[in-house]
Amino acid sequence: MLISELTNALHELYAPESAEKWDYVGLLSGNPDTEIKAVSIGLDPSEDFIHYSHKMGANFLITHHPPTLKPDSLIRPDRIRSRFTYHTLSKGLAHLVIHTNFDHSKENGLEKIATRLKLTKTQRLSRSETSTNPKEGYGIIGNLENPSLFSDFAKSLFLVFPSKTLALYPTNSLKSGEKKVKCVAFVNGSGGSFFERARSAGADILITGDLTHHIISDSHSIGLGLIDPGHAPSEFFFNQHLSTQIEKIAKKAFSVFMHNQFQQRELLKNPEEVAL
Ligand SMILES: [Fe+2]
Repeated sequence: MLISELTNALHELYAPESAEKWDYVGLLSGNPDTEIKAVSIGLDPSEDFIHYSHKMGANFLITHHPPTLKPDSLIRPDRIRSRFTYHTLSKGLAHLVIHTNFDHSKENGLEKIATRLKLTKTQRLSRSETSTNPKEGYGIIGNLENPSLFSDFAKSLFLVFPSKTLALYPTNSLKSGEKKVKCVAFVNGSGGSFFERARSAGADILITGDLTHHIISDSHSIGLGLIDPGHAPSEFFFNQHLSTQIEKIAKKAFSVFMHNQFQQRELLKNPEEVAL
């Protein structure tokens, strides 16, 4: 299978034109007419990921995040925004990015994360501007099977996300236990801007990464608690989900490797040590 053939098949699921305007997605570098030897999937386009991919014999690299959101017209190893592309090209590797076109696709696996969060009656949190399909959209919201104390719910997240730490921002009523967590919203990546949408949809808690002071302050003022598992840990499922999609398309025509940024030992770390 050629790189162009797999790219086109993935773009049927994750249309590049549906990505946000500020994003950089698609086949950013490499020769589309090259035969695929093996595919390597990772969250971040790091040099560590290049080394891993090269070692595994992969010549087609797929990442969730682009190397930069401000591309450099100079492709050189001493340029911070183009060094990843320089190193992939110098090793004969192609690089495909599937970012925001993945995040709001109905084929992004958010429903599986909702199941791990024990959410029922789920729906996507925010419709994508580029789609009218209710099964598409950023984030997911649903009700806990059993309403939970905030501290218990927070501890349970160590079993869902490969986070070393969780940043917890309960409202006063959630912290005291006066109010239980019933309705939960989750947005992978940097989803703080969805806080008003989450609250208006009924969420008691929004789980997302990259929370800022003003998002936290404004969320509390409207009665929404927040939990930040970290940007990358909140998107840990990208590799596995994309691998499954590729195996459906290519039917084991080549090997698919996943670069694990998160050590397994971190997955179950310190579930009893959440201090409130
Ligand atoms: Fe992200």
